[in-house]
Amino acid sequence: MSIRPRRSVLYMPGSNARALEKAKTLAADALILDLEDAVAPDAKEVARKQVADAVAQGGYGRRELIVRINGLSTPWGKEDLAAAAKAGPDAVLIPKVSTPGDIMLAARELREAGAPERTRLWAMMETPHAILSADSIVRTAMDPAARLAALVMGTNDIAKETRARLTPGRPAMLAYLSICVAAARAYGVDVIDGVYNNFGDEAGFRAECEQGRDLGMDGKTLIHPNQCAIANEVFAPSDTETEWAKKIIAVFDLPENAAKGALQLEGKMVERLHAEMARRTVAIAEAIAV
Ligand code: COA
Ligand code: MG
Repeated sequence: MSIRPRRSVLYMPGSNARALEKAKTLAADALILDLEDAVAPDAKEVARKQVADAVAQGGYGRRELIVRINGLSTPWGKEDLAAAAKAGPDAVLIPKVSTPGDIMLAARELREAGAPERTRLWAMMETPHAILSADSIVRTAMDPAARLAALVMGTNDIAKETRARLTPGRPAMLAYLSICVAAARAYGVDVIDGVYNNFGDEAGFRAECEQGRDLGMDGKTLIHPNQCAIANEVFAPSDTETEWAKKIIAVFDLPENAAKGALQLEGKMVERLHAEMARRTVAIAEAIAV
């Protein structure tokens, strides 16, 4: 099982050289170097160059590097994609995806621009069309040429486009979030929750991380370094969960249980599906430990 922890996925404006440098020391599993909404029109060219140089130079250790480009229909999108393809990050993040064609077009442009095979595509799920067409969009992941590896929830854009409000507990977002979790699981890609804007509110942030985890998200996108530690903690299996997972695996591995589908462990019913879940828990705990 090859698993990448994506508990903490930190955005930073590509125009902010200090943030790009600081990120080399931050405890984030992944970094999104942004050329889109966090960068003002006047700064687009500078940001593109800075981000391409930062990716090409490296120094980010095991952190995954993702470049978020401007949409391919904007004045900057194509050049962003070409520069990203040349720099070869772990992934290129496509904003405002609305159709399967958006994924396939970006994948083709990446290939034509000579992006290395390792550079995957990530998709922002943030338009009403993305939600309504989540199945067909994410199904593109079945085609290896699409390179699709992860979805990122753009909750601020969803709120803008639908006029739903981002209130505590996010009742108005739940359907949108869960639809994307289902689409991600249906086609075997990861899904990362949206950002929590009020980065000074630790308790509110923790509650939202826990909610995202319980919905099935793999991690959370972040806007400020002070959010890394909590996301890393909440999205990692706890020691208790890992221990329990190991016990489930061990009990099903006993020769006398080889033919059993369900059994009793410390007073609880466990089934083979729990052993499968347990294997994933242990694999992710081991990947995090590395
Ligand atoms: N990534 C890396 N470093 C960051 C960072 C980020 N997202 N946000 C802040 N920092 C750094 C700052 O550069 C500063 O470093 P320094 O102490 O070495 O100078 C330190 O962390 C503390 O920053 P702070 O003063 O608390 O925040 P700020 O007022 O400078 O910035 C924001 C606040 C919101 C503007 C900034 O956090 C930000 O740009 N976040 C990302 C926004 C974004 O990318 N949005 C798009 C997707 S939603
Ligand atoms: Mg957006």
